[in-house]
Amino acid sequence: MEFEIINYSDCTKEHLIEILNLRNEDSIRIWMANPEKISLDNHFNFIKKLRTDKDRIYYAVFHEGELVGTYNLTKENDGIWERGIFTAPKFHGTGVTKEMEGQILSMLPRNIFMHLTAKVKLNNVRSIYYHLKMSYYETGRDSEYIYFKKDIK
Ligand SMILES: CC(C)(COP(=O)(O)OP(=O)(O)OC[C@H]1O[C@@H](n2cnc3c(N)ncnc32)[C@H](O)[C@@H]1OP(=O)(O)O)[C@@H](O)C(=O)NCCC(=O)NCCS
Repeated sequence: MEFEIINYSDCTKEHLIEILNLRNEDSIRIWMANPEKISLDNHFNFIKKLRTDKDRIYYAVFHEGELVGTYNLTKENDGIWERGIFTAPKFHGTGVTKEMEGQILSMLPRNIFMHLTAKVKLNNVRSIYYHLKMSYYETGRDSEYIYFKKDIK
């Protein structure tokens, strides 16, 4: 599938609103660390800060002009980045999310992105299976999350 992968900083205002609307859908936000709806103001302030933050990379992914989902990386340590992801419900179960992450991983420089981490809520069964399918492995868990890691080869 052809994806257009655009840094949030290069997205149009319309794209950014579309991203926020998807992120605020109940079926998406309940799985986020912060499950509250995000306001337009907070969203735009956050994106403004991203422009000067080298340790946070946020991508929006489109297919034929349609928003597929978003993919973000936050630096934890040298070579280690925490990865966040969500895709639009219409693409779930289609293999598109896997393809999207695969394409993004293939474009990341290996000397900077060596390991990814992710934390997934214990009851987010779909996401847990997704991460295992994508070769993330469990490194621990607590009362709320399973912690995953993936070694990029
Ligand atoms: C998590 C997410 C990115 C995964 O993308 P997806 O397209 O839904 O994932 P896939 O369909 O490729 O993979 C999910 C797997 O879980 C399996 N699955 C789903 N529900 C399941 C269940 N209740 N029991 C067992 N397996 C289940 C599916 O069968 C599939 O495995 P398969 O492809 O081997 O059959 C997407 O669902 C999403 O955006 N969810 C909302 C936001 C979110 O949870 N983000 C992640 C926060 S950590």
